[in-house]
Amino acid sequence: MKNVLETDVAGLKLKNPTMLAAGILGLSMESLMSVANAGAGAVVSKSLGIEPRHGYGNPTVVQVEGGVLNAMGLPNPGIQVFIQEMAENRLTVPLILSLYAFAPKEFATAATKASTAEVNGLELNVSCPHASGTGQELGRDPKLIMDIVKAVRETVNMPLFVKLTPNVTDIVGLAKAAEKAGASGITAINTVKAMAIDIETSKPILANIIGGLSGSAVRPIALRCVYEIYESVKIPIIGCGGVDSWQTAVQFLQAGASAVQIGTAIATKGLSIFREVNDGVERFLKRKSYGSVKEIVGLSHRS
Ligand SMILES: Cc1cc2nc3c(=O)[nH]c(=O)nc-3n(C[C@H](O)[C@H](O)[C@H](O)COP(=O)(O)O)c2cc1C
Repeated sequence: MKNVLETDVAGLKLKNPTMLAAGILGLSMESLMSVANAGAGAVVSKSLGIEPRHGYGNPTVVQVEGGVLNAMGLPNPGIQVFIQEMAENRLTVPLILSLYAFAPKEFATAATKASTAEVNGLELNVSCPHASGTGQELGRDPKLIMDIVKAVRETVNMPLFVKLTPNVTDIVGLAKAAEKAGASGITAINTVKAMAIDIETSKPILANIIGGLSGSAVRPIALRCVYEIYESVKIPIIGCGGVDSWQTAVQFLQAGASAVQIGTAIATKGLSIFREVNDGVERFLKRKSYGSVKEIVGLSHRS
């Protein structure tokens, strides 16, 4: 029987339109396997840099109304260690490596290293809201996005996603720059710059003071970003931000996302969120007599 959930995003064949978002359970083969076994259509690694990085001191994560605030500071063992970890890639779903760097040339070097591993695509993190010299400090500038994407494009030939920040007035301009420079797809969005204060001490709760908000609180922002980007670029979009049910996944697909990534909902609902979303989307497609999930991508734009 035909699998109505089957789809492809920028050449990546997916058995369903759900993916693990970067930064959650994405550092070891074992944890990535557990996400794949739970039903994700693809997995994205934690963002990796050329050098190992400790990240910030605690607290790095705090629960707030409607979501989670984090300022981890991009802790990771470095791309080389991750590649060794992936040496025996036993994943049965595509693996996308998330990369961060401090300049276009360094992104190209990281991409070259990444391409020596058994990976199926890259996601460029030009959108982390709380790390100095990288993330959104680069990715708020369309010209820098173009330089980064071009540098990586000249180096590797694999599906290349650019993950954008919502912390700008014109995310569409960033998406257009990424497309023009040769990106295969857009991931929208990374976390929304935010903070929390403990009134007893009068101090900001996160050690880094400012962090990134994720979860259902950011969903309407993410949805608006996907909707606007869909109207302006032809490359596929991966929706991300507050997907925590099959209904919210359908909203992103109808807004124009070809697939969705899930992060924070794993903390609240566990890995069963992937089956919950996939089963629900499948039932929805059948109830509405659609033959494929592709048929509802961008449906909200059609009159
Ligand atoms: C604890 C935590 C760590 C994260 N680390 C990364 C990261 O390393 N790279 C990245 O691109 N995004 C990172 N993100 C952002 C998520 O990938 C995602 O864009 C964001 O959380 C919105 O999706 P969600 O509401 O489903 O969590 C992180 C998010 C959280 C909560």
